Amino acid sequence: MSRSAHPAGPRHADVMSDGHYLAPADDLNVLDQKVWSRTVTRDEHGAVTVGGLTVSRLAEEFGTPAYFLDEADFRARCRAWSDAFGPGADVFYAGKAFLSRAVVRWLKEEGLNLDVCSAGELATALDAGMPAERIALHGNNKSVEEIERAVAAGVGRIVLDSFQEIVRVAHVAQGLGKRQRVQIRVTVGVEAHTHEFIATAHEDQKFGIALAGGQAAEAVRRALTLDGLELVGIHSHIGSQIFDMAGFEVSARRVVQLLAEVRDEHGVELPEIDLGGGLGIAYTSDDDPRAPHEIAKSLGDIVTRECEAAGLATPRISVEPGRAIVGPTAFTLYEVGTVKPLEGLRTYVSVDGGMSDNIRTALYDAEYSVALASRTSDAEPMLVRVVGKHCESGDIVVKDAYLPSDLAPGDLIAVPATGAYCRSMASNYNHALRPPVVAVRDGEARVIVRRETEEDLLRLDVG
Ligand code: LLP
Repeated sequence: MSRSAHPAGPRHADVMSDGHYLAPADDLNVLDQKVWSRTVTRDEHGAVTVGGLTVSRLAEEFGTPAYFLDEADFRARCRAWSDAFGPGADVFYAGKAFLSRAVVRWLKEEGLNLDVCSAGELATALDAGMPAERIALHGNNKSVEEIERAVAAGVGRIVLDSFQEIVRVAHVAQGLGKRQRVQIRVTVGVEAHTHEFIATAHEDQKFGIALAGGQAAEAVRRALTLDGLELVGIHSHIGSQIFDMAGFEVSARRVVQLLAEVRDEHGVELPEIDLGGGLGIAYTSDDDPRAPHEIAKSLGDIVTRECEAAGLATPRISVEPGRAIVGPTAFTLYEVGTVKPLEGLRTYVSVDGGMSDNIRTALYDAEYSVALASRTSDAEPMLVRVVGKHCESGDIVVKDAYLPSDLAPGDLIAVPATGAYCRSMASNYNHALRPPVVAVRDGEARVIVRRETEEDLLRLDVG
């Protein structure tokens, strides 16, 4: 589907909420490989399959709504990222995008490291056997208990986010008789071109310590004096779902400038820089993400160039992709319930999930694609809005899309690219039961996070 100014005057019904015209794809049955995981295709009967299993069979066995995660694709993406950056750099998967014990095991096997940002994520990582030295702890308000657990476990790095935290981590480490490896997270003052809620490098927000006004330099000064800390590098994360490399380049340049200042002032060359995550993925056919090797080359080139200019040895680079690894690997399968045509507007297609399994549309105005998955159809395209079953009109899963006009209750529809920040941000709103995550690989499917039950809900409600 493409979004453009309408060539010959739009039909009212096809003008999108953002004032543009959305053209239906030539053939709604064709799955654009850009937005679907690698093993997704249609079988000879037209049903969507993943890992060799058809959605109808998956729905029968696991129910709907459910997330189906293409394990082969996940592993291939891990390898693509680590091959692209090579042995001289480190790739940390950002667990907040989606974390489970199975995912931790895959990461471990594929040689990736792991970012966690809470005690719960840390517990999951350690429980599934991720070696502590391959774990980094993030967060703008880590509790003393979280810091203690991380230091005691021996995590490879803690990313310091404030002046108070510099002292807190140093104190905890000293108390445990340890010297904790740390990085300092700086805000580089870049306006990332993304939704305001997921931009993090401008100054007026809660993360990091500003480069501006010498604050980051002061943080380095303090960290270097504390016995409990081994300052190994500088960290910057500019935001999420970013396609334009320009923001990363500015960020890398400013971080290297700080390294040069640190060298000049303290005679110390910090050995690491982390440029964060935030690389965009294709949610619709209009999105054109860069391949990991292009990203690695562009970041590596800029860091090397800037370091040469500053007379610094090139530090070890690390990155923290979350969405770019897991996002494209899963789709959500829903069963169609009520189909409600609104004359002159569009057809509302209600599914058996909604904002409780995908809050991103409501929260960030995120765009998604959707396809009729249980069969193909030659019926005319109709403009739809896919909505959930929650008691809110903002409960939208896919705002603007086309589906075949013979869509009927009981059909299965699939929303691709829901691997990141959907299950991890899922809620029990309206006492919805959070859907399972089912990993599919080589003709086999297994539940890696089970569906919640009413017993789970009632167990928390102690009456
Ligand atoms: N590193 C740090 C320090 C981060 O804060 C994040 C994401 C990442 C890495 C991974 O970013 P990714 O590569 O996944 O974009 N819930 C929002 C995204 C919030 C991202 C928070 N931090 C969404 O659904 O778009």
